[in-house]
Amino acid sequence: MKVLIIGGGGREHTLGWKIAQNPALEEIYFLPGNGGTAILGENIPFNPLDLEKIVGFAEEKRIDLTVVGPEAPLVAGLVNVFEKRGLKIFGPRKEAALIEGSKVFAKNLLKKYGIPTGEAEVFSEYEKAIDFLKSADFPLVVKADGLAEGKGVTVCQTFEEAVKALDDCFLTKRFGDAGSKVLIEEYLEGEEFSLFVLTDGEEILPLLPAQDYKRVYDGDRGPNTGGMGSYAPLFFVTEEVKTEAIEKIARPVVQAMKEEGREYKGLLYCGLILTSQGVKVLEFNCRFGDPETQAILPLLESDLLEIMLSIVEGNFRNYNLDWKKAVCLTVVLASKGYPFSYQTGFEIKGLEEAKKIEGVEIFQAGTRREGGKVFTAGGRVLNVTAVGDNFVEARAKAYKAVEKINFEGMHYRKDIALKAVKGFKNG
Ligand code: GLY
Repeated sequence: MKVLIIGGGGREHTLGWKIAQNPALEEIYFLPGNGGTAILGENIPFNPLDLEKIVGFAEEKRIDLTVVGPEAPLVAGLVNVFEKRGLKIFGPRKEAALIEGSKVFAKNLLKKYGIPTGEAEVFSEYEKAIDFLKSADFPLVVKADGLAEGKGVTVCQTFEEAVKALDDCFLTKRFGDAGSKVLIEEYLEGEEFSLFVLTDGEEILPLLPAQDYKRVYDGDRGPNTGGMGSYAPLFFVTEEVKTEAIEKIARPVVQAMKEEGREYKGLLYCGLILTSQGVKVLEFNCRFGDPETQAILPLLESDLLEIMLSIVEGNFRNYNLDWKKAVCLTVVLASKGYPFSYQTGFEIKGLEEAKKIEGVEIFQAGTRREGGKVFTAGGRVLNVTAVGDNFVEARAKAYKAVEKINFEGMHYRKDIALKAVKGFKNG
């Protein structure tokens, strides 16, 4: 079996690591990959948005299954292009990927089908949005409609902050076309979590819930990032909460997409919040989350490749997933300056020593391998992941591994999964 993975982050390294555990795997390619995937398989230095080039490569290499990591190629229609050529690919078509590609589409879908979410108004004119703000309650959330590399959502405590967020969308056009429409949304209070479901457009198979740490500094301070760490499973997502999330949100959304003629196949990322009125939707993504994947897949004992293939081949059935009776966390090591501008090209030392710690895996992200050495090549550089019997043990292993690694300007959060040890107050 030959597999091609699109993307080059920590998520793609983790997907490849998991898929490579299937004994039928012969070859694995990453496009474009990173310094870690270069060891697991072969990196192909193509742009993940060059759809024709990618499909040509898959044909030439006779790839049996392509798995898409990031949202942009999905929203651009990579799955449609592959299907037209009769090639197998895991992920939603562009008509279904719109659930992430347009927040206005997703919000209207939720409203139409009565699926719990925050109240929101849509604006395509700056002046009307400003008028709305004049009588709005704060805090509120301003969201750019389209893909904005995780930077399009602003929680605004004041009128001035909301005006600045609208300026970014409509006046300076920071997000290009993605900001030509905005949602002004009710701020929901509660604990956020991510629930991923594998689906063939009909049946759903939930993975373990995970939590992402979006802010750059400990204690959830500082600017938003792509994610500075994650952990799974979640002590506050009880069986009851999980059932509510599945039955009131994930399953109805998959059915709603089918009714809309936008059958959703692949992995649906439900970004949820547990409020005092129950679980509500914050957002959907059309792909695995990063860095949640790094904390979920090390706990999965079942074969992921087999399930992905069954979705693509149309024989997805009621799988009973096997999970390790353990917990997992991942700590992101980032470049100095991230999430703003940063320099790259610094040598990373200590990887081999860190990997020797029992239960530790290092999933690489913004890295590059050259002459047997690994160098920084992005904002989020490494995901130091540890599995343990409990979070005290897993945290001890992960942070012991972190201490062995260094590169110039390296920074990371020290409180990943701490709330799973101490509860919300001190976490
Ligand atoms: N962890 C957030 C995301 O993958 O979008």
